[in-house]
Amino acid sequence: MVKQCAVNKKITKQGKEVFVCDTTRSKLLPVLQSIQDKKGYISDKDMQVTADRFGIHPVEVYSVITFYSFLTTKKKGKHIIRISNCMPNIMAGSKRIEREFERSLRINIGETTKDNKITLEETGCVGLCDEAPSALIDDELVGNLTPKKVKEIIRNLKK
Ligand code: FES
Repeated sequence: MVKQCAVNKKITKQGKEVFVCDTTRSKLLPVLQSIQDKKGYISDKDMQVTADRFGIHPVEVYSVITFYSFLTTKKKGKHIIRISNCMPNIMAGSKRIEREFERSLRINIGETTKDNKITLEETGCVGLCDEAPSALIDDELVGNLTPKKVKEIIRNLKK
């Protein structure tokens, strides 16, 4: 269970300055990001505890998680490969690159390798149309993907 407090605020209590968890609504996203960073996903229990702390319904927490594709309620691999599927990327051959990743990893889009190392996903715009086909490998943008580059990426991630 991850502590649901990503942002502290300073308050004065009985003449002393103390730090308490900031549960203003705008802090919900940083709290969820913090849980995601620590665990790799946000469990049902995390959602419930977060909702209780913020004084909101768990469905509201769930709706925030499902709105942002970088938050997830399911455990994913240690590394996440997100292949851009915007139109310029498709026109530049992203589907061929996608098949190369699937073939090399022996999984389909949306799946994780058996050793839990790599999850393969599609995503929308990654902001790298000029270097399409492109992908987001964990936090790193990679462009001009080729089948050779795909093999290199997988080799590096499996180290
Ligand atoms: S529209 Fe293709 S990366 Fe943004």
